[in-house]
Amino acid sequence: MINSSAIDSPSFSRRQLLNFLTGTTIAVTASAGLYTVGKFLVPPAEKTGAGGGIIAKDVLGNAIPASQILAEAPGTRALVAGLAGDPTYLIVKEDGSIDSIGIVDVCTHLGCTFPWNGNDQEFQCPCHGSRYHPDGSVARGPAPLPLKIVQVAVVDDHILITPWTALDPRTGEKPWWV
Ligand code: FES
Repeated sequence: MINSSAIDSPSFSRRQLLNFLTGTTIAVTASAGLYTVGKFLVPPAEKTGAGGGIIAKDVLGNAIPASQILAEAPGTRALVAGLAGDPTYLIVKEDGSIDSIGIVDVCTHLGCTFPWNGNDQEFQCPCHGSRYHPDGSVARGPAPLPLKIVQVAVVDDHILITPWTALDPRTGEKPWWV
């Protein structure tokens, strides 16, 4: 069960957030199965390479083969370690490929991590109730901004994650994180 008082604390650290993410994944998967939460949990941050890109990793710091993600059902949101160790959702599209846009699992309100609710087709933050559409745009506040996105590419059997610096496709404007 999620400890909401701990979540509401302003001193809730990044490490606690990641622990929370792990607990949430297990708790949700073990209960009603309402959420399709990624099972590829998050290792420590990694330095970025040339171009600011990194290879997506799992909780043990091992590179996740693209074939492992592609074996998931269409519509799956698979959670991996992304840029600066940020938990990042990769999306398996209906055509069986990995979406070229990944969504960073850090709420723009106060930084909580959150699950994907497949029934509602929303990311739903448990801390203060923000909800996001599948593309990461805000469906309901208090979140003030759309979720950060990253570029995702499959290179051989690796998944390369790089910063998104182009216009934000949801707003048509310069991204708030650039
Ligand atoms: Fe407040 Fe997500 S951190 S709604």
